[in-house]
Amino acid sequence: MNAHKICEGIHCLHADIKTAELFEGIWPIPQGVSLNAYLVRGEKTALIDLVRDWTGAPKQIEDALNSIGTSFSSIDYLVLNHLEPDHTGWLAEFREQNPGAEILSTQKGIGLVKTFYNIESGLRTVKDGDTLDLGGGKVLSFYETPNIHWPETMVTYEAESGTLFPCDAFGSFGALGGRVFDDEFDAGEHVFFEKECLRYYANIVSSFSVFVEKAIKKLEGLPVKCVAPSHGMVWRREPHTIISRYRKYAAYAKGPAEKEIAVIWGSMYGNTKRGLDAAIRGIEAEGDVPYTIRRVPDENISYILADAYRSAGILLAMPTYEYAMFPPMAYALDIFRRKHIFGKTALRIGSWGWIGGAKKEYDAAMESLKWNCLEAREWAGSPTEEDLKALEESGKELARAVKAL
Ligand code: FEO
Repeated sequence: MNAHKICEGIHCLHADIKTAELFEGIWPIPQGVSLNAYLVRGEKTALIDLVRDWTGAPKQIEDALNSIGTSFSSIDYLVLNHLEPDHTGWLAEFREQNPGAEILSTQKGIGLVKTFYNIESGLRTVKDGDTLDLGGGKVLSFYETPNIHWPETMVTYEAESGTLFPCDAFGSFGALGGRVFDDEFDAGEHVFFEKECLRYYANIVSSFSVFVEKAIKKLEGLPVKCVAPSHGMVWRREPHTIISRYRKYAAYAKGPAEKEIAVIWGSMYGNTKRGLDAAIRGIEAEGDVPYTIRRVPDENISYILADAYRSAGILLAMPTYEYAMFPPMAYALDIFRRKHIFGKTALRIGSWGWIGGAKKEYDAAMESLKWNCLEAREWAGSPTEEDLKALEESGKELARAVKAL
């Protein structure tokens, strides 16, 4: 694995992770994810962010270092923008190979170095605006950007090249292959990475959108010519594309989002599905309101979350189950609450068997989510022709409400 040169003295060291293991133990990454570290060389050498020992990532980084004539043992400073173990899991092994390297992070970051890795010496706390002069014109500046998405997070900036190293911020799911720069991917590949970027944001960052907005505002004054995150591609041609994308995603948290509808449904014996088909006919009859459709529990919550986060409208179709909501839908709504999927316009529909009951639990969930709920449609058993007509009207009503936002 070779290092990728950003400019003289600055290289991206990149490891592609392809595994059936879940990211953070929750989120599937069928198309992989990249772990990026960065080397900045002046008279002294700094490594920015590390990796965990995951599908051979340390070896990939080591190979990249070797390809430009250096190694872990030659590093003078290790800058840790973020302590989550995907970027620090190999820290104890790094320390063993290089006991002399000084580790720099925020005060909270240094605290986590101690508690996660039991390292007590060779640590330096950096504060907002502090700098590290590597000599040879390379000066690193540090800016605290807390809560993206852990409390200790910061970004590092190299002024001569205008390179921003934001770690998780401006990141994406998706393995990169042998390329890392935005200008090395074609339009179709960018469409794929934009989807994976949204899913990454919705899964990992969405709860902290207010802090994303604060960080973007704080960094506005920096002349950023290259955004070099620790997941996903390095944006040297269009750094502002990824910054704008994150600004847009952060705004979704306040709602309304895109004029689209996320249809999320579950059905036990097809009665709710028949009602859903009618509601979808209603959405389609209104025209020009795109929708996505995902079934619970068949489809992973990671993708459902991304669709829901992006869409202004939500159609939830579920049967009553033992006097309450269909359990996989209750789980989805709980994840939405945890991930701050607020400000949606929602329609709930569904069939009940011997008695209803989804309403009570649903209404309680809506109190937390603060969604604008259209009148729900429920029916006993199989939907009648009258029910289907009413459901079609409800679908139209939802589409019109989304269009009017
Ligand atoms: Fe990529 Fe929050 O770690």
